[in-house]
Amino acid sequence: LKTQYLATSEGDLAIAAELLQRGELVVFPTETVYGLGADALNKNAVAKIYQAKGRPSDNPLIVHVSGIAEVSRVAVGIDPLALQLMERFWPGPLTLVLPKRSNVPDSVTAGLETVAVRFPNHGVACELIRRAARPLAAPSANRSGRPSATTWQAAAEDLDGRVAAIVCGEPTGLGLESTVVDGTDHIPLILRPGGITLEALKAFAPNIIPYSGLGSGQSQTPSDAHRNSPGLRHQHYQPRAKVIVLESITLLQHDTAAIPPQSALQLKASHFIGCTSPEPGLFRKVIVCDDVKEYAAKLFDCFRNADADAAVAIYCESVPEDGLGVALMDRLRRASNSSDNNVHS
Ligand code: TXA
Ligand code: MG
Repeated sequence: LKTQYLATSEGDLAIAAELLQRGELVVFPTETVYGLGADALNKNAVAKIYQAKGRPSDNPLIVHVSGIAEVSRVAVGIDPLALQLMERFWPGPLTLVLPKRSNVPDSVTAGLETVAVRFPNHGVACELIRRAARPLAAPSANRSGRPSATTWQAAAEDLDGRVAAIVCGEPTGLGLESTVVDGTDHIPLILRPGGITLEALKAFAPNIIPYSGLGSGQSQTPSDAHRNSPGLRHQHYQPRAKVIVLESITLLQHDTAAIPPQSALQLKASHFIGCTSPEPGLFRKVIVCDDVKEYAAKLFDCFRNADADAAVAIYCESVPEDGLGVALMDRLRRASNSSDNNVHS
């Protein structure tokens, strides 16, 4: 398959929309990460997504729409609170899990009775959905198990020759995926932390159940047993370099003499990302960010860069677990594979 590289011009988006209508795969930018899109109501097109990504078939997809009215094409019996969440946070990085309509292919939802829906806050994404005139199923545009793509070049690295087209937009602003909220009940539950923070959701829905950390792919209370996010069971965000989460970088700042020679050699072959500057010369490459927002935006690109540079490891400074820091720490922990829950199935 020869992948077409398209611009974000009207003419090129018309070409991309036509490919989608014909059941082909098109990569497109969103405000979170690049998506690997297909016609959500065409099961042959959806099957191609799993093939191109090498994605396990038990991990359902997010359906992207360009307006709240379109949700009724894929979901039914929407809880009033879910509707209020859409009105408050859409367009934006919030995905809502809703009862699915029967016309949605089982492959989109991995056989679940629910469907995940999102209205992205991105002009190119919305224009493409409108022109295609159908909801688009789109997981992140990376090979399964690799870091999400935050640039079209990253998507091309993983998917060239596997998709009909890549819409080459800007690097994504947010850099982390959407927050996934189960909205099938009047008590919403956060299944994956992301671009919309718990604080923002709580201000609006005070009874929302927070994300309970790694392992919440399996619910913790029996009454929540039916509410889970299948994707969290799978291995995620793994660059080839070893990801090491640094609880504190004070050692790397002040007391370099205390680092054993072996470790010093490893650091010299490694990259660093964080908000604090380490001692100069310790690492091969250093990315120092002004704040958590910039850190989040640069993380996945940093992972891919480290691999391109054949770095031994990526040292990632921890951040406080509030605001966007919750999603960032979740991605760091998954990438560092520090949980028994990261099993391939
Ligand atoms: O920001 C994003 O959400 C990006 C962009 C492209 O929109 N998409 C994305 O998709 O991150 P993906 O496939 O990488 O992650 C989808 C997540 C997975 O954790 C999956 O298990 C969960 O959403 N999910 C999808 N359908 C679900 C459902 N019916 N019930 C529970 N979780 C669901
Ligand atoms: Mg993904």
